[in-house]
Formats: sequence, structure tokens, C-alpha cells
Amino acid sequence: MNRLSGKTALITGAARGIGLEFARTYIAEGARVAIGDINIDRAQAAAKSLGDAAIAVTMDVTQQDSIDAAVVETIEHLGQIDILINNAAIFSAAPVTEITRTDFDAVFAINVSGVLFTMQAVAKHMIERGGGGKIINMASQAGRRGEPLVAVYCATKAAVISLTQSAGLNLIEHGINVNAIAPGVVDGEHWDGVDAFFAKYENKPLGQKRKEVGEAVPYGRMGVAGDLTGMAVFLASEESDYIVAQTYNVDGGQWMS
Ligand SMILES: NC(=O)c1ccc[n+]([C@@H]2O[C@H](COP(=O)([O-])OP(=O)(O)OC[C@H]3O[C@@H](n4cnc5c(N)ncnc54)[C@H](O)[C@@H]3O)[C@@H](O)[C@H]2O)c1
Repeated sequence: MNRLSGKTALITGAARGIGLEFARTYIAEGARVAIGDINIDRAQAAAKSLGDAAIAVTMDVTQQDSIDAAVVETIEHLGQIDILINNAAIFSAAPVTEITRTDFDAVFAINVSGVLFTMQAVAKHMIERGGGGKIINMASQAGRRGEPLVAVYCATKAAVISLTQSAGLNLIEHGINVNAIAPGVVDGEHWDGVDAFFAKYENKPLGQKRKEVGEAVPYGRMGVAGDLTGMAVFLASEESDYIVAQTYNVDGGQWMS
């Protein structure tokens, strides 16, 4: 189990949830990992729990200077960046008639601009040092089709799929593979917020939406972060060298494309 031996990774939004599980798995596979997160206290606690192979890096993906500083700090500590996972994102939901510009801008700033400009900063480093690299963007089944109450978040994830295609085609000449993972519904703290949104807008008791979405998954339950780690390791390893600009559904059978 050392498919990422000697590799280094920067994972955004890895202080908790799916990103943290990716960090844990990458370390188990022999990598060293920088946990880049806006919540530095949790990032530090996460890094401490993972041991010497992890560092915490302050990073707000909406701010160019913060992205640049996080990339520099990661390279200073880990020597280089072989793998980037653009994982940081926020969720939002509202009927179309209630969407505000403030919310739209905030969600796009993290989920879309954050992905693009972090990808850009790391790609520049990868090109400069030579030797290629792996970039994995976190999309979602939400990017595959709209949902009545989730217009903004769905649009951001569709944009991630599109950015993955364009960047994948553009950067492969430098040996940089850009691909994405589209999870379905993955239990964790993220879902506390999602469940609360639906409780408000669909008039359901707390916990009801979570139960319903789990039951609707063809596999028979909600996903857990560990369901995604196999794909995250594969897309970071040499085994995926010939895979370019793709988005893979890892969702228990929710979506087929
Ligand atoms: N959980 C799901 O059901 C699900 C489904 C499909 C896709 N996804 C995607 O998977 C990824 C991880 O999801 P999760 O459930 O672990 O989310 P999460 O909410 O548990 O974690 C997100 C992390 O991002 C960090 N973050 C927020 N804003 C940031 C910023 N400006 N800069 C840097 N870090 C920031 C948060 O502090 C947090 O640690 C996201 O891209 C999400 O959209 C999740």
C-alpha cells in the first residue's frame, strides 16, 4: 500500500470531512500532505492527528495572496507539490426567487474561482519544476443536473466539470493530468448544513432529508468519505497517466454518464 510513496500533496479544505479522509489515505499510501484550510485551528488539529507526514497551511481560496502564500509554504515544507486536490467548497440552497447576489458571489468565489486560481498557481509551479503532476477537482452529482432549490451550488459544480475539461486539455502537454471526482451524497458535517437548508425550505424535520437521500441511493446508503479514497489515490497515481479531463462519478449508482 505505497502507491504514492515519495509524493507530496496539497489538499484544500482538508481540515475535516472528505478532504481530511483523503489526507489520511494519501499518508497511508506514502505521501506527505499539506492541509490547506481557512479554518487553521481545525487544520492544525487535523495535521497533528495525522502525524509527521502532515502540515497545516492557512489558505483562503477566495484570496489570491492567500493561495500564493499557501503554495509557497507547502513547497517550503514539502519540497514540491506533485498532487493538488481542489476540495474546498461550500453549499447553499434557496428557491430561485430568493437567491441573493451576495450568496451567489460567495459560493462562486470558493467553489469556482477558488478551484481555477488554486489550479493555476499549482500548475505554474508544476510546469516550472517539470515532471508533470496530478490535479483532482471535487465536482458533484450536483454538477450533472440542476435541482429546484440548489441552483447556485449546482452551477458551481457544473463549472468545476467544465474547468476540469479545459484545464485538462490545456495542461496535459506539461504532463499534468487534471481530472475530477463527482460524489453523490457523502455523510459528514457538510450534511448538517445541507439537511438544515432542506428542513427550512421543504418543511421537513431535521434529519429527514438525510434519511431520504440515503434511501434513494441505488447502493442502499449514503456514501462515506472512505468510499471516495480509492478514486482519489488512483487519480493521483501513475496508473491514471493516460486519463485526461474526465469527471468520475463515485456515488453508489446515482448518476450515469
Ligand atoms: N458531502 C457531500 O455530500 C458531497 C457531495 C458531492 C460533492 N462534495 C464535494 O466534496 C468536497 C468536500 O466536501 P465535504 O463534505 O468534506 O465538505 P466540508 O464542508 O465538510 O468541508 C469543506 C472544508 O472546506 C473549508 N473551506 C471553506 N471555505 C474555504 C475557503 N475559502 N478556503 C479554504 N478552505 C475553505 C472548510 O473549512 C472545510 O474544512 C466539496 O468540494 C464538496 O462540494 C461533497
